[in-house]
Amino acid sequence: MSKTRTIYYCQNCGNQSPKWIGKCPVCGEWNTYAEEVVDKNEEKAKEKRNVTGRKTEAAVPVPIKEVHEMETARLDALDTELNRVLGGGIVPGSLILIGGEPGIGKSTLMLQLALKLKGTKVLYVTGEESDRQIKLRAERIGMANDDCYILTETSTQQIFKQAELLGPDLIIIDSIQTLHTVYVESTPGSVSQIRECTGELQRYAKETGIPIFLIGHITKDGFIAGPKVLEHIVDTVLQFEGDRNYTYRILRTTKNRFGSTSEIGIYEMLGAGLRAVLNPSEILLTQREEELSGIAIASMMEGMRPFLIETQALVTPAFYGTPQRSSTGFDVRRLNMLLAVLEKRSGFRFGTKDVFLNIAGGLRVEDPAIDLAVIAALTSSYNDMPVSSKIAFAAEVGLSGEVRAVNRIDQRISEADKLGFEKVYISKFNQKLDTQKFGIKIITISRVQQLMEELFG
Ligand code: TYD
Ligand code: MG
Repeated sequence: MSKTRTIYYCQNCGNQSPKWIGKCPVCGEWNTYAEEVVDKNEEKAKEKRNVTGRKTEAAVPVPIKEVHEMETARLDALDTELNRVLGGGIVPGSLILIGGEPGIGKSTLMLQLALKLKGTKVLYVTGEESDRQIKLRAERIGMANDDCYILTETSTQQIFKQAELLGPDLIIIDSIQTLHTVYVESTPGSVSQIRECTGELQRYAKETGIPIFLIGHITKDGFIAGPKVLEHIVDTVLQFEGDRNYTYRILRTTKNRFGSTSEIGIYEMLGAGLRAVLNPSEILLTQREEELSGIAIASMMEGMRPFLIETQALVTPAFYGTPQRSSTGFDVRRLNMLLAVLEKRSGFRFGTKDVFLNIAGGLRVEDPAIDLAVIAALTSSYNDMPVSSKIAFAAEVGLSGEVRAVNRIDQRISEADKLGFEKVYISKFNQKLDTQKFGIKIITISRVQQLMEELFG
């Protein structure tokens, strides 16, 4: 006899409670609890279940020195960016989550992978689109692969059954929110379904050694919808992000059991699918015919990769009461801080001005090394005097107007050098720099005031 009971789950973080509560005590969100039915007997049986139906023996402890390292060859994804973020290819038996907002290009990225891997049998399971829609997309991308199979199915048990019959080398699931397992009664997309299905996929991947990519939609706040729990189960979490109004997409690792999390991949969404971008600076720097005020270029790092990016500022007289401060791609509190520094240390009067700041390309920058370029852009617009487009900046600015050293300065300088910049402004405190090896002129400064004198005399 199966006994059922209901549990309330927070749809945001996955916390459970025997009764409904308004505010989640764990994540602090309001009104996120929803009732889900749980089969008690199944709960107990869950632990023992073996998703492939194969027999496994009970585990016994072994000394760590007797554990053999599995020299498992990684599967080459034939995509420089994807290989990079995965830490050098796809690890057999791993479960990889690809999260991103709807419409960002997750299905496109995965279908491209499936079509690129010729000679590797790929099973693309879709619960979101019909097989004909997938076919249309494949035609748009313009690739064909005889070893790519499409399965429109949402039941995990059926998926495992078909996978046993087909024997794929790689499985792609689009998406976790559409899956359901017979062992949980709540609707697809609910926390208990997502958790259970992901658990089954993880066990399946480990039992068979087949790597599985799992697509998951995220909500506006950046949570993999709904539960954070998902991130604990999978081996690797990749975030696909970007502004839908721009063509660039960034693939970021936020968790990786098999590699570093500081790598990023950059793509461009074209009419015929995603293209890996090997030199990001080229697309992030706009071509200009004349020098314009309010523009300065920063040499920044995203993960381990340096690139140059434009910061644009507009400073205008404020006509309506409180002056406006608005910023895209840069923390507005940090903008306010930099404005206060300029006000106090260099005598600028921003109190009566509206200030707008924009990072080109729809990128969000958190690297503090962009500060100096922001300062240059702000003062350039304030003075209405352009900064030469052959100058790059790479330094952090502190509260007392000091110009601070930043990490990986060599990489930042050499990227600017490579792109034909003539001068780069860095902090005087970036020591031990072999200036001889760069063709670019390196100017070191210690205070913001010094920069003002250098740029505007
Ligand atoms: P999609 O992969 O469906 O996004 P997701 O699975 O993350 O929801 O792609 C969404 C957008 O990408 C869609 O609005 C159209 C655009 N797109 C292109 O610009 N070029 C292409 O070749 C393809 C396939 C899609
Ligand atoms: Mg999709």
